[in-house]
Amino acid sequence: MRIIMLGPPGAGKGTQAKKLSEEFNILQVSTGDIFRKAVQENTPMGMRAKEYMSKGLLVPDEIVVGIVEERLKQPDLAEGFILDGFPRTISQAESLEQILHKNGMSLNAVINIQVSRDGLIERFTGRRVCKSCGASYHIKYNPPKTPGICDICGKELVIRPDDELETVKKRLKEYEQKTTPLIEFYRKRHLLINIDGEKPIDEVYRDIVDSLRGEE
Ligand code: AP5
Ligand code: ZN
Repeated sequence: MRIIMLGPPGAGKGTQAKKLSEEFNILQVSTGDIFRKAVQENTPMGMRAKEYMSKGLLVPDEIVVGIVEERLKQPDLAEGFILDGFPRTISQAESLEQILHKNGMSLNAVINIQVSRDGLIERFTGRRVCKSCGASYHIKYNPPKTPGICDICGKELVIRPDDELETVKKRLKEYEQKTTPLIEFYRKRHLLINIDGEKPIDEVYRDIVDSLRGEE
């Protein structure tokens, strides 16, 4: 199974990708996670990406596409993958088509998680992430067992640097301008599945699984 998670920042792509990854036993590839790890490790690519991420801007296509192309060649993804946060521009989507074609692969579905602007703002405000392993929580909708502490590794939870309101507004604008055209791009290819992302996490998850089972 090869799936893309599409939707605005904060829609729940990462949350749902993690759950799907367990259900379908396929790996999640999150470009945001790849960049955050590179930033944390201060690699040259991380330093370049940070310039854009900290301003709420998309990282240039040529950087992102190279990383994804390398990742998709790895044998652990031969059986499938869930792309979370990629593609985000028409140019990235076209590059992905070429990469998949070259490797004799095709997509099964593009899950488009829909959430209103007010709903998104509430999610950013309440999101807390683990400083160490990157796991994501919400103080109201997905709280850790002990407040402020990661369930997985026991480390401290913090606010993601790009979740500050001014940066969030820029991320939403980037999404509107550069990513929304992908909805039409994948609708035309009969791959688009629209999911109401306003429901509780488990209900959104059930809707996604039901629609994917219908695709099998
Ligand atoms: P990335 O990490 O991909 O961020 P994003 O797309 O902005 O998405 P988020 O991680 O903010 O949200 P999400 O949809 O995964 O929601 P989540 O599950 O966490 O990218 C970060 C940056 O990296 C970009 O700004 C860009 O600079 C760069 N980048 C990455 N990919 C790139 C690319 N392809 N091209 C160029 N640049 C790229 O949920 C959010 C919160 O809500 C959590 O607290 C969660 O617990 C909660 N929640 C989730 N679902 C629900 C629900 N149903 N009900 C209530 N709460 C919920
Ligand atoms: Zn952790």
